[in-house]
Amino acid sequence: MRVEPAGFDIEVRPGETLIQAAWRAGYSWPTLCYAMGRCTACQCEVLDGLHALSERTEAESALLNNLDRRVRRANPRRVRLACQVTATADIRVRKPGVQKQCADSDERTSNSDVSQ
Ligand code: FES
Repeated sequence: MRVEPAGFDIEVRPGETLIQAAWRAGYSWPTLCYAMGRCTACQCEVLDGLHALSERTEAESALLNNLDRRVRRANPRRVRLACQVTATADIRVRKPGVQKQCADSDERTSNSDVSQ
């Protein structure tokens, strides 16, 4: 999966949701409910690869139907919840706010513990 606008390439394993893949690979992905399918903060716009995505679950359809039209943009078919959808081929999505986690945060914490 290519995540724009940052340009991150993240491997999505079979059966894994997009947000699970991002988390496993060390990226943060906007969420309020931590993939419980309740907040819609994980929504992303699918730029390429719609055919490779899993069907919408009932929960996803209900949440997306309730989204404000301004948020859904022009083509609601392209808006998916990253915590609900899986992919079987390369896709490209737009999701501002996806960031690489700082890999050495634990190390910095332990170093600061040592210096005290
Ligand atoms: S993370 Fe909350 S609905 Fe997807």
